Amino acid sequence: MKESLQEIIKLTKEYLETERLLGTEVIYLEKELPEIIKPEPVGQGFSLAQKEKSKPDTKSRSEGLPYSSPDIDIKNLDDLQGEVGKCTKCSLHKTRNNVVFGEGNPDAKLMLVGEAPGREEDIQGKPFVGEAGKLLTKMLKAINLKREDVYIGNILKCRPPHNRDPKPDEIAVCKPYLEKQIELIKPEIILALGRHSAWTLLGIDAPFKAIRGNVYIFKQAKLIPTYHPAALLYHPAWKKEAWIDLQLVQKLYEQS
Ligand code: URA
Repeated sequence: MKESLQEIIKLTKEYLETERLLGTEVIYLEKELPEIIKPEPVGQGFSLAQKEKSKPDTKSRSEGLPYSSPDIDIKNLDDLQGEVGKCTKCSLHKTRNNVVFGEGNPDAKLMLVGEAPGREEDIQGKPFVGEAGKLLTKMLKAINLKREDVYIGNILKCRPPHNRDPKPDEIAVCKPYLEKQIELIKPEIILALGRHSAWTLLGIDAPFKAIRGNVYIFKQAKLIPTYHPAALLYHPAWKKEAWIDLQLVQKLYEQS
């Protein structure tokens, strides 16, 4: 009895420490992990592994866009980085200071995909080094991972002026680079950070709330959509669901 009380105290301390790391101000007493449902192939490069009731109304976002651009004949990340570094396929090259290719472990089991570089990332040429990046580092720490363990990339490799949303034509020309990056890294798990990342990778247009809470199969990886850390800075109450997603990532990571 004494031991189990100590165990409860230990677990409670760990839980509170994790919440502290995530910057939580409100503690929720009940949590529910989403069920991982066996994926069923549905074609189009991804499949949905989700509860019927929350099935999003899927509309293709890629209609009319050159998503099916020819394969990039590149065999390693360094060469791909060289290629992306020279890219002038959209107007963002005119305003960028640096291309933000991505960084981390090239053999990572977990790859994180954000939206696009912000001001700080554009200056440093590295992903997630601003305020959102600090929270992302804490989120990883909460599941016992360091930035060096994972690979961090973005949908767009150049900063949109004033951090505006990526435009469809920018996504269309940049997406093949990300797909090649994923193909070379071969992550087992992909954490899609924010709606633009989830929409682009899954090629579907549905309310983010319908997409989140499910596991998808994308290029043989398990893809989990979660809130973008920048959104969590503005909406701390969403951290409750983000923590559920992170716990799912941790579970899959430890199983892989
Ligand atoms: N937000 C992103 O989506 N990516 C970054 O690299 C930085 C902020």
